[in-house]
Amino acid sequence: MEKIVVNGGKKLYGNIKVNSAKNAYLPILAGSILSKGEILLHDCPKFDDILSMCNILKTLGIKCKLENHELILNCGGANAFEIPEEQTKLIRSSIFTLGSILGRFKKAKVAYPGGCAIGSRPIDLHIKGLRALNVKVEEENGFLICDGKNMRGSDVLLNFPSVGATENIMLAATLTKGRTRIFNPAKEPEIVDLQNFLNAMGAKIVGAGGDLIEIEGVNDLSSVEYTPMPDRIITGTYILACAITGGDITLENTNASHIESLIKKIENKCCKIYVQGDKIRVLADGKPKGVGLVETKPYPDFPTDLQPQIVALASISDGESMIIENLFETRFKHIPELVKMGANIQVDGKIAKITGVKNLFGCEVEATDLRGGACLVLAGLKAAGQTIISGVHHIDRGYEKIEMLSKLGADIKRINV
Ligand code: UD1
Repeated sequence: MEKIVVNGGKKLYGNIKVNSAKNAYLPILAGSILSKGEILLHDCPKFDDILSMCNILKTLGIKCKLENHELILNCGGANAFEIPEEQTKLIRSSIFTLGSILGRFKKAKVAYPGGCAIGSRPIDLHIKGLRALNVKVEEENGFLICDGKNMRGSDVLLNFPSVGATENIMLAATLTKGRTRIFNPAKEPEIVDLQNFLNAMGAKIVGAGGDLIEIEGVNDLSSVEYTPMPDRIITGTYILACAITGGDITLENTNASHIESLIKKIENKCCKIYVQGDKIRVLADGKPKGVGLVETKPYPDFPTDLQPQIVALASISDGESMIIENLFETRFKHIPELVKMGANIQVDGKIAKITGVKNLFGCEVEATDLRGGACLVLAGLKAAGQTIISGVHHIDRGYEKIEMLSKLGADIKRINV
């Protein structure tokens, strides 16, 4: 078993490059099922979730070759429309393949998805969207069995702007005759990136990032070379790491406009932030003030994927903070672990009230989900003494070697026990 060991108290200094976003890469990989050509994707992060998605593509007959962060997909030979449970249970985003497989083969059999244990995570909106496109969906023995032989473009109204449902419907509609309109879609930057990727292969999609996405079905998609957008959650995680420890770091390959909600919350209270082109410089003296009220909501509001990390910051900030988690009902599993480290946090339902303490102390803690694991690493960077984090496989789902923070001067390493 692997563990991450952090000796806290080191400030962070230096430059670090942020890689392409997992949450952009995954729907893009699903989108490759729609193409009959060759796809070259740059800057591929070697996260476990990306590798699991590549295995799913291979099951469908797509050739995948990952070399030096370049991923080459040869999609011409895709010939299967079924994904077994042992693959979907590893990764929730396997659900995106449903829309793509349907788009390409007009039929699909996909086992229910797995992924992070951060709530019940229903897929009713995905199914509702596919049914609106005239797909017959049945559930049998843990599989979704879909018949799309009569698929046609249509209007879809999402009663909540779900990221996954928006992406799945876009993917299903791309090769479906007629016009599909998605009302109240998610507006996350990853949706815009998926639109750009599909359009670069010949799709006709407009409106991503706004209130209405329109998709005019096309007959086929061609080859493409594409670089998915930088990871805004990793960017935010590093910014918060520096705000917690103090120091002076510069992040390269970022898009500050994607994390405006975070910057507005912490700028001048917890650190200084300077943006120049694709670089973000964070200058912090390690004496952050309380972050006040932070409420997670769909983009462009504060992202749920940065909630655990900002809880870590609030734990060692002066004064009181209140964090409200609106998206996922069991996304506070990092809090009991932070309390073990000396944090003063009271949880009542979806609200966490945090009174900052002077410092945390290192101890053994367990990551039970991806971003919760990142939160514990951040806490460990500041805590007095040694923090030993287990459950590292959760962190590896979205950070390529989080111990890379040692490049910035952190005392952090991975051990095998
Ligand atoms: C995506 C991100 C994830 C992020 C989340 C919210 C990827 C691969 N994952 O997840 O990192 O935390 O957006 O920003 O991009 N919901 C329903 N029915 C559905 C679908 C969703 O009720 O059919 C609810 C969920 O329970 C949740 C909310 O909608 O409360 C948001 O979920 P959604 O936006 O779909 O998140 P994901 O796409 O799963």
